[in-house]
This record gives sequence, structure tokens and C-alpha cells, in this order.
Amino acid sequence: MSSIDFKGRVAIVTGAGGGLGRQHALALAARGAKVLVNDLGGARDGSGGSVSAAQAVVDEILAAGGEAIANGASVTDFEAVQAMVAQAVATWGRVDILVNNAGILRDKSFAKMDLADFRLVMDVHLMGAVHCTKAVWALMNEQKYGRIVMTTSSSGLYGNFGQSNYGAAKLALVGLMQTLSIEGAKNDIRVNCLAPTAATRMTEDLMPEAVLEALKPEAVVPAMLVLAGQEAPNRTILCAGAGSFEAAHITLTNGAWIGLGGDAPERLADRLAEVTDRSGEIVPQSGAAQGSNEVGKAMANAGRH
Ligand code: NAI
Repeated sequence: MSSIDFKGRVAIVTGAGGGLGRQHALALAARGAKVLVNDLGGARDGSGGSVSAAQAVVDEILAAGGEAIANGASVTDFEAVQAMVAQAVATWGRVDILVNNAGILRDKSFAKMDLADFRLVMDVHLMGAVHCTKAVWALMNEQKYGRIVMTTSSSGLYGNFGQSNYGAAKLALVGLMQTLSIEGAKNDIRVNCLAPTAATRMTEDLMPEAVLEALKPEAVVPAMLVLAGQEAPNRTILCAGAGSFEAAHITLTNGAWIGLGGDAPERLADRLAEVTDRSGEIVPQSGAAQGSNEVGKAMANAGRH
């Protein structure tokens, strides 16, 4: 059986004052990591803030014999995030693991949503993760080691009524992961996404009671530990909830060569079922794969249309 331990490793977990982040921080510390516990300490919609939420988790880790420090930075503030990373480095000399977990909700149907709520959710989830990742990126490249976990969501992967802002931000993190996993690979920086389902204050009024019972946040933690571990995969979207695990993939169908010409739209419309048919679809390893696939089909059909 694999063994996953974090002795000598330094981890930053954002939004770790409660919910999933708290469980992530406790589990990393229990397996030997030194953990910077970040949390703005605000309400579910992102209002307010205090370092006491992070400090309470640090106290739990210390009481269990672990090592941890608290940080109250908002992930939306790049200078504060840089100071957070500097705090971890000043205390322990390195940062091996970053779990981008902080998040808020501002749910409304798109018709009723104002743009300020759209921007704020993008800012916390997407730019928050960008700030934290940027602040550790040079360090991880110099160390030639890094494990970064982005917290995405089924709302981003598949959609959910009332969560256009949240879904857009969460799928943006998948896009960020796709490229960073390519750019970081040469220095053993592995970047992955976690898509959790858990009963936390974020979901307490979105799911029925019995379902919430089954969805303990602790049940998501194994997926995070695997993605943060030495033997982590790279570029995986791991879904986790209630003790079940799945992988989500962004696939490309075999498609069809339609060619050029004034009637190409009509020919495409006629063959759309063939273009979208999923048999034989692939998971491209970079965006270049789509282009070369298309050029390949065009070359094979050179001379037609
Ligand atoms: P939560 O609301 O319990 O935890 C989020 C934490 O982030 C809070 O402690 C909050 O204070 C902190 N936070 C918010 N804004 C911050 C900021 N600007 N800077 C630093 N910290 C900030 O929610 P939960 O459920 O534990 O969510 C954790 C992550 O998992 C989020 O990214 C969420 O979007 C994601 N997620 C959760 C799902 C679930 O079923 N609970 C489903 C899919 C994704």
C-alpha cells in the first residue's frame, strides 16, 4: 500500500479557518506537514474578517502536537499574499504545497445577478488562486519541487442554476491548472484540481439534511492528500465526496473533416451528430493536440473542397 506522509514539507492552505480547508490543514499537519493556516475569517458571502478563525485551527494543530502558524490575509490582496508566503518562508524556509481552497458564494440567477457580485466571486476564486500560486511559483521552481491543488467545483465543470459567477470562476481554475501543469513539469511542480462535494456552511442551505449527513468534509480530504503528496499525478481533475472518487476529463471527439467553401455551414449542420459523436474521443495533453488533429484531417483530405 502507498504511504503518504509530509514530514519536512511546508504547506499553505487558504481559507482553512473552517469547512474543507480546516480538514485539509488538520490532515496535512497530522501527517507531518508544517502548515500555514490562512483565513480571512469573513462570512460566507465574503463580508467581514478576522484572523481568529485561522488561529483556532492553528491551536487545534498545536494541541495535537503539530506545527502551524496563522495568517489572516485576503487572497484577493496580492501584497498580503506575498507577505503570507514570506511568513511561511521566514518560519520554515520553504513552501512545498499550496492548497488553493478559499472561496465565497454570491448566488443568483444570471438575470438577477449584478456585475459586482460576478466580479467579486471571480476575484476571490480565480484571482485569489492566481495570487497565491504566483507568490510561490518562483520559489517552487528554484526548489524544483511543488504541489499545487486548485479547488474547482462540479458547478464549474457541469453548471448549476444560480452559480454563473461561481461556475465561471471554478472552470477558470481548471484552465489555469491545464497550463501551469505543463509549465511546472520540468521542475517537478505538479498542479491538479480537486472538485469536492461536502456539507459545509457553503452548502448547508443547498442540499437536503440526509444528504448533508453523508457528506462529511473529512471524506474529501484523501483526494487532497493524494494530490498534495510526493507521488501526486499532474493535471488531474479529481472529484471527491462521501468517500467516492471520480476523475473529470475535458475530451475531444474524433469529429469530421468538413472543409472550406460557402456551403460549409450547411454541411457542418448536416453532420453535427457525427462531429459531436463521442466514440473514440481523446483527452488532449495540450491545446496543440486539437490544432494538429485538425490540420492532420485537412491534410488527409487535401484536394477535396
Ligand atoms: P467554507 O465557506 O466553509 O470555507 C471557505 C473559507 O474560505 C472560509 O473559511 C472563508 O473565511 C475563507 N475565505 C473566503 N474568502 C477569503 C479570502 N478572500 N481570503 C482568505 N480566505 C477566504 O466553504 P467550503 O465548502 O469549505 O469551501 C472550500 C472550497 O471548496 C471553496 O473553494 C469552495 O468553492 C469549494 N467547493 C466546495 C464544495 C462543497 O460542496 N462544500 C463544492 C465545490 C467546491
